Amino acid sequence: MVKASAPGKLMLFGEHAVIYDRPCIVASVEHRISVSIEKRNDNNLILTAPEFNIENKNISDLEKTHLKKVSFILTAIRNFFQKYDLKSGLDIETQSEFSDKIGLGSSSAAVVSVIKGLSELFKIKMNEKDIFDLSYQTILDVQGLGSGFDVAAAVYGGILFFKTAGKAIKTINPQNIPLVIGYTGIKADTPTLVKMVREKRKKEPNEINNIFNEIEKIVSLARVEIENQNWKKTGELMNLNQNLLRKLGVSSKELEDLIKASLGAGAYGAKLSGAGGGDCMIAITNKNSLENVKNAIKKAGGIVINAKIPVKGVKLE
Ligand code: PMV
Repeated sequence: MVKASAPGKLMLFGEHAVIYDRPCIVASVEHRISVSIEKRNDNNLILTAPEFNIENKNISDLEKTHLKKVSFILTAIRNFFQKYDLKSGLDIETQSEFSDKIGLGSSSAAVVSVIKGLSELFKIKMNEKDIFDLSYQTILDVQGLGSGFDVAAAVYGGILFFKTAGKAIKTINPQNIPLVIGYTGIKADTPTLVKMVREKRKKEPNEINNIFNEIEKIVSLARVEIENQNWKKTGELMNLNQNLLRKLGVSSKELEDLIKASLGAGAYGAKLSGAGGGDCMIAITNKNSLENVKNAIKKAGGIVINAKIPVKGVKLE
């Protein structure tokens, strides 16, 4: 039996623009998904996933229930078998340290863990880019869209400067970043928001492309400030990025409430993280304001998620 785990992610800068060939900055977060895999003597794929109350169920029966997570896992296995011309029955068991509702990237972490686990089980040599490519293909097969930033965080860990489809994946150095994560309690609908921005861009290409160009500038400045661990400047850039996300129309009242509360409590900067509309916001602070910012987020109705950032990428357990 093999067991592999991969971390979740948080978008720090550059969401939405990254889909249109601009870079973004993504961080891996401590909460991990792990997957145990064992060969079977028959051809069945049997899944146990306690977080969805699934115990020893045949995956092809589960597919009919339209559980997204099951599609991701099944497609990852199919893609791996197809690429390496393999076939086998498997027992698969997932374990999750976080809910799939908060937007920390549980699907990409599950896919990456499955691919890593299978490569170990079948003794296929895959480097990080091979795992990225097959996992990203899997996400596109199931979801039809996405830049793959979440897959990169799950594979490589750390903090990454990333370009869509993995055209650039570069590690940014800091071993820690004083970030507070506030969850709005609302599930973001990423595909709908991505499509909404696409429609806007069709109607007003110049305006939206200008916003993306501004975001691109912020990302390259933020890359330097993060490297220098200049959190005050990083925070100011977060505020600028948030302003542009507002212009794109992807922020929400709940996100704005938490952002305002963080800034009022002394954060250097705050912004939504991910597609917008819900999920999480992030704030960057100095050590002295950290507790104040957390309390302000709670008071404003948010849930503070404590997680180490950044962490190691996919690994065998
Ligand atoms: O909603 P999330 O956390 O999956 O983030 C989406 C970020 C986008 O840039 C809007 C989409 C993408 O795949 O890069």
